[in-house]
Amino acid sequence: MDDLAELLRHVATTAADFRAGLPERAVAAPADLAALRTAFDGLIPTEGAEPRQVVDELIRAAEPGLTASAGPRFFGFVIGGALPAATAADMLAAGWDQCAFNAVLSPAAAAAEECAGRWLKELLGIPATASVGFVTGGQEANTVGLAAARHHVLATAGWDVERDGLIGAPPLRVVAGEERHATIDRSLRLLGLGTARVEPVVTDDNGAIDVDDLDRVLAGGSGPLIVCLQSGNVNTGACDDLRAACELVHAHGGWAHVDGAFGLWAAANPATAHLLDGVELADSWGCDGHKWLNVPYDSGFSFCSRPAVHVAAMSHAAPYLTGSGGETAALGDVVLGSSRRARGFAVWAALRELGADGVAALVERCCALARRFADRLAAGGLEVVNGVVLNQVLVGVGEADADRVADAVRRDGACWLGATTWRGRRLLRVSVSNHATTADDVDRSADAILRAVAALG
Ligand SMILES: Cc1ncc(COP(=O)(O)O)c(C=O)c1O
Repeated sequence: MDDLAELLRHVATTAADFRAGLPERAVAAPADLAALRTAFDGLIPTEGAEPRQVVDELIRAAEPGLTASAGPRFFGFVIGGALPAATAADMLAAGWDQCAFNAVLSPAAAAAEECAGRWLKELLGIPATASVGFVTGGQEANTVGLAAARHHVLATAGWDVERDGLIGAPPLRVVAGEERHATIDRSLRLLGLGTARVEPVVTDDNGAIDVDDLDRVLAGGSGPLIVCLQSGNVNTGACDDLRAACELVHAHGGWAHVDGAFGLWAAANPATAHLLDGVELADSWGCDGHKWLNVPYDSGFSFCSRPAVHVAAMSHAAPYLTGSGGETAALGDVVLGSSRRARGFAVWAALRELGADGVAALVERCCALARRFADRLAAGGLEVVNGVVLNQVLVGVGEADADRVADAVRRDGACWLGATTWRGRRLLRVSVSNHATTADDVDRSADAILRAVAALG
């Protein structure tokens, strides 16, 4: 036991030293995959080793291959750096080694998810009566939300999809914006609906759905209907008009699912909450903790306006599952997994650390820094292509090649950003999602980008 205590202190110090070094560490990992493979490689050992030796070997092998993605100048994908209390809570979750399947197995994990779930609904403008599943991320949240949708719209048409599957089911319509996130398509594949089923809705200048076109598409058919809406276009940050869209969807008897992996957090900030007007009208919502809440990976939320539907679509039963099947849904009854990490501890800790005001300030600061990024790059002669409504910025680099610029910036070490294709153009893509990012980080990074464009243009 003493050895374990010493070992945990050792890894806590190692992790803390790494995190303390992030502001000045080159953002891209110093070593490449080939070097990492060599460091980790070898035959499976015949004999085991002392835990301390194992951990030191792991640290030695992995350290050169760590990206400073938790640091303040990582602007790729949509990546937040885990908050201190959330990081520590996640280390406790590993140390406590709880299985968050149901309240009998871990009352603490259950209570943390219940409380954090209530706080999340309040912050995000989701009805207090909605059910909450703590999932791995946006992908699982979309899959669970669409599974609930599939269950409900087919049940309304007299079909039990859980029992009878999709063969012979009434044809089901899926309507989604043409700029939906790629995980929606993967969810549709997994749910047996297929991607060819999607009836696309055109998007406006900034990538939110055109509500008039949604109206037109909806009028073009009938039958069980699922509509996928989006808060936070992964390229532009644009948010669909949820009020107008949900009203239309409901007028056609459909289910409105909102993919709000990062954009749903705009609801928690008074200055951006208007982008989420009508959020409470939807039927299911997906959101991430590991993006804008700055909780360690992996962490997301699946909310459903009809708890009984959520459970009917996801739960399973077996006689040995002590503590399940009662009045209250088990934690594992509203997600894809059964044996699960106790994700609620880190989410509870992040919300407790920030408070509602702190969450609002985090969202507001990231948006302000995204605008600063856009202004600096525009002042340097680059073209900001999107309307910067949230934390996302798309940048045209003229004659230069966006991928080569992004690569050069990463090699320079000042910051990390990627490229994307939007409306047929290859562009730089910046996402500001970390509580630790400062104006100075943005200025240093913008200067590095401008230098790289000048060198490659
Ligand atoms: C709008 C949107 N939906 C879904 C996802 C998928 O989320 P995750 O990577 O957490 O599964 C993302 C990720 O960036 C996203 O931006």
